Amino acid sequence: MGTKSPLLRWMFWTMVTLGVFFLGYIIGWFAKPAHPNTENQKDSSKFLKDFLEEMKAENIRKHLRSFTQLPHLAGTEQNLKYAEQIQKEWQDFGLDSVELVHYDVLLSYPNKTQPNYISIVDSLGNEIVNTSLAEPVPEGYENISNIVPPYSAFSAKGKPEGELVYVNYGRTEDFFQLERQMGINVTGKIVIVRYGKIFRGNKVKNAMLSGAKGLIMFSDPADYCADGVQAYPEGWNLPGGGAQRGNVLNLNGAGDPLTPGYPAKEYTYRSKLEEGVGLSKIPVHPIGYHDAIHLLKNMGGQIPPNNWKGALNVSYRIGPGFINEYKNFTVRLNIHTNSQVMRIYNVIGKIRGSLEPDRYVILGGHRDAWVFGAIDPMSGAAVVHEAVRSAGCLLSRGWRPRRTIIFASWDAEEFGLQGSTEWAEDNAKLLQERAVAYINADSAIEGMYTLRVDCTPSLYTLVYDITKQIGSPEEGEEGMSLYESWHKKDNWTSYRDAPRISKLGSGSDFEAYFIRLGIAAGRARYTKNQKTERYSSYPVYHSVYETFEIVERFYDPSFRRLEAVARVRGGLVFLLADSVLLPLSAKEYADSLNTYALIISQIAEKHPEQMQKYEVSFDSLFSAVGNFTAAANDFHERLQSLNTADPLQVRIVNDQLMYLERAFIDPLGLPGRPFHRHVIFAPSSHNKYAGESFPGIYDALFDIENAADPDKSWDEVKRQISIASFTVHAAAMTLTSPA
Ligand SMILES: *[C@@H]1O[C@H](CO)[C@@H](O)[C@H](O)[C@H]1NC(C)=O
Ligand SMILES: *[C@@H]1O[C@H](CO)[C@@H](O)[C@H](O)[C@H]1NC(C)=O
Ligand SMILES: *[C@@H]1O[C@H](CO)[C@@H](O)[C@H](O)[C@H]1NC(C)=O
Ligand SMILES: *[C@@H]1O[C@H](CO)[C@@H](O)[C@H](O)[C@H]1NC(C)=O
Ligand SMILES: *[C@@H]1O[C@H](CO)[C@@H](O)[C@H](O)[C@H]1NC(C)=O
Ligand SMILES: *[C@@H]1O[C@H](CO)[C@@H](O)[C@H](O)[C@H]1NC(C)=O
Ligand SMILES: *[C@@H]1O[C@H](CO)[C@@H](O)[C@H](O)[C@H]1NC(C)=O
Ligand SMILES: *[C@@H]1O[C@H](CO)[C@@H](O)[C@H](O)[C@H]1NC(C)=O
Ligand SMILES: [Zn+2]
Repeated sequence: MGTKSPLLRWMFWTMVTLGVFFLGYIIGWFAKPAHPNTENQKDSSKFLKDFLEEMKAENIRKHLRSFTQLPHLAGTEQNLKYAEQIQKEWQDFGLDSVELVHYDVLLSYPNKTQPNYISIVDSLGNEIVNTSLAEPVPEGYENISNIVPPYSAFSAKGKPEGELVYVNYGRTEDFFQLERQMGINVTGKIVIVRYGKIFRGNKVKNAMLSGAKGLIMFSDPADYCADGVQAYPEGWNLPGGGAQRGNVLNLNGAGDPLTPGYPAKEYTYRSKLEEGVGLSKIPVHPIGYHDAIHLLKNMGGQIPPNNWKGALNVSYRIGPGFINEYKNFTVRLNIHTNSQVMRIYNVIGKIRGSLEPDRYVILGGHRDAWVFGAIDPMSGAAVVHEAVRSAGCLLSRGWRPRRTIIFASWDAEEFGLQGSTEWAEDNAKLLQERAVAYINADSAIEGMYTLRVDCTPSLYTLVYDITKQIGSPEEGEEGMSLYESWHKKDNWTSYRDAPRISKLGSGSDFEAYFIRLGIAAGRARYTKNQKTERYSSYPVYHSVYETFEIVERFYDPSFRRLEAVARVRGGLVFLLADSVLLPLSAKEYADSLNTYALIISQIAEKHPEQMQKYEVSFDSLFSAVGNFTAAANDFHERLQSLNTADPLQVRIVNDQLMYLERAFIDPLGLPGRPFHRHVIFAPSSHNKYAGESFPGIYDALFDIENAADPDKSWDEVKRQISIASFTVHAAAMTLTSPA
């Protein structure tokens, strides 16, 4: 054609272009389905079924086996090796990209040549009893090195010595009772508390505030041994030589203690160790119940109230100090634990969204473990691995989600949610503009009874929907849905005829995403019977006995419970990523706000005179919740008539749904907690594991009857009510018709 004139060439190409366009148009016309979105949805639900069924118990078993061979504490070489293994396998499964993303954060380890222990010291200064230096290693693991002995990460160093005082679980109410009713002052004493009920970091904070110079935490059989069950390996109870490791930080969402607010990169400014966030100022150490007997058996002082008594054959007297053959003896902690900046590695895998690549749905869970971590966290990591494998299979069959899916294997969760928080800080600007939801994937099983879900209210409907599409994993419940099985066992009778869903607290990696950034979040796992089983976490929690065998022999021999959890977690992510309209409910949020407003106002109304005297009113909060309810109802009404074939209309309402959670964020944070910015939910100030609703008002009202300055305290209550009212009303405005 090089020789023809430009005009002819132009005419030729015009004809060709028009022809191709016309042909394409005709083909498109006949191929165009009558209802594009119902077709699209039907296609999506066929893929959902394939996605759920592709996840298999037997594969989860294999993943768990492979991830629990060796100890893999954060900052160790073995945990990097598992990161590299996961990276390679996710690549092989077919993800679009899989990267290792590292940070340099403050971790804490015992000194290998100078072990930590606790002694009873006689009048001559001899250490006549020493607690054990390690747990008896379970059979089959005798030759494994690098098992870190039980310790409290981020304990202060030192050798405090003094009289012992027993303070039950070390809760705020326990210290109140000790100080106010029993009249005991623990300044300069060593406090001993049992594990359970609340996060251990809160126990440390309470002990520090009370003036104690050291803290011992022990696992009592009342809390860590279920009735009629034998100790591991015969059963799943905690053996007497077992002890619970764990960090004792009070971070309030800060992540790396040295770089609060910013990702811990090479160039990042680090505060001095003394100024690190949340570090314990006193030595702390955990022990098992065999060792605890020696410390408790000769204690003197007051006889404890009945609810302070555990299940050991000792008096549980309060102290201070010993009687009988230990008269005048003291207790000494010998703690040589060191903090150290170490490199940690997150694994970040992605599937690019087909239509909305700039909208992210995240499935994240941690990989680091105290020892083998077969329950915490590898039962969760094995489940995520299977979800990634299943998603990869679907990709190879032509599926691609509408939105981007991000899979994360976090590091250093056990040291204060560090990997997940640093990545959230690193990507905060992207996440606040683009993240649709975060599903957490820590331990997938902590009992053998039924499903447990904690999530933001906007996810309730989706959780119920997906569990209706998954089968019960229980024997004898063939043909029953997971929803029915769950409903039967945990009926939410006081509130509605549906299975119970709880508020998110903290203590796992969703914290920065939900509480700091305002991203809709949820978690699901298999759990124990909350009504009949008294113990706090599962008995062998954070001990060397969290082996593959304890899961295989006791918790889930068929691996069908883990399979069900995989399908719940995976199914949530699938529908969040692939539904045309985001499956989030503003109406459910409105219902919950109504309940929470009622609850918090009733707490205040326990003080009718003060409410009158200080003119405290919840009218503005109820007005705001009313406005939110009306806006949510209108919003969902408008969704009914939405033209889902119009991508702009769809994007407009989806953005409203995505940003709804964000609207509850107060950039100034809660008082003294700059990273707890969600006005509706926060971890309780007295127990990081528990969620509190309207936390600003709750904290202002807490123990207000004993306030040193009531004028000031009730003024703060009023300030917090106004912040909550404004925030709820402002969130309601984001749901109104944009025009
Ligand atoms: C660990 O303890 C030894 C003494 O046994 C001491 O020399 C060493 O400095 C300690 N290590 C650290 C990091 O403190
Ligand atoms: C406790 O440990 C210290 C330091 O190693 C040692 O001197 C003491 O004899 C030990 N006491 C007992 C009863 O083993
Ligand atoms: C541990 O090592 C010893 C000596 O090397 C060996 O005899 C024994 O079989 C090993 N045990 C296990 C469980 O591997
Ligand atoms: C407890 O004792 C310390 C010193 O022994 C004292 O400073 C402090 O005021 C006491 N606390 C109370 C509440 O009496
Ligand atoms: C409990 O301890 C006391 C005194 O040490 C002992 O006499 C008694 O036999 C113990 N009871 C049990 C059930 O072990
Ligand atoms: C215990 O200490 C007191 C004084 O603090 C002393 O009078 C008493 O003799 C001591 N008892 C023993 C058994 O050492
Ligand atoms: C749940 O409780 C409600 C109210 O008591 C009852 O009507 C309903 O049948 C219960 N549902 C199940 C599945 O047990
Ligand atoms: C609720 O909406 C009404 C009507 O728009 C408004 O007057 C009122 O101030 C709102 N409540 C709050 C707490 O903003
Ligand atoms: Zn965990």
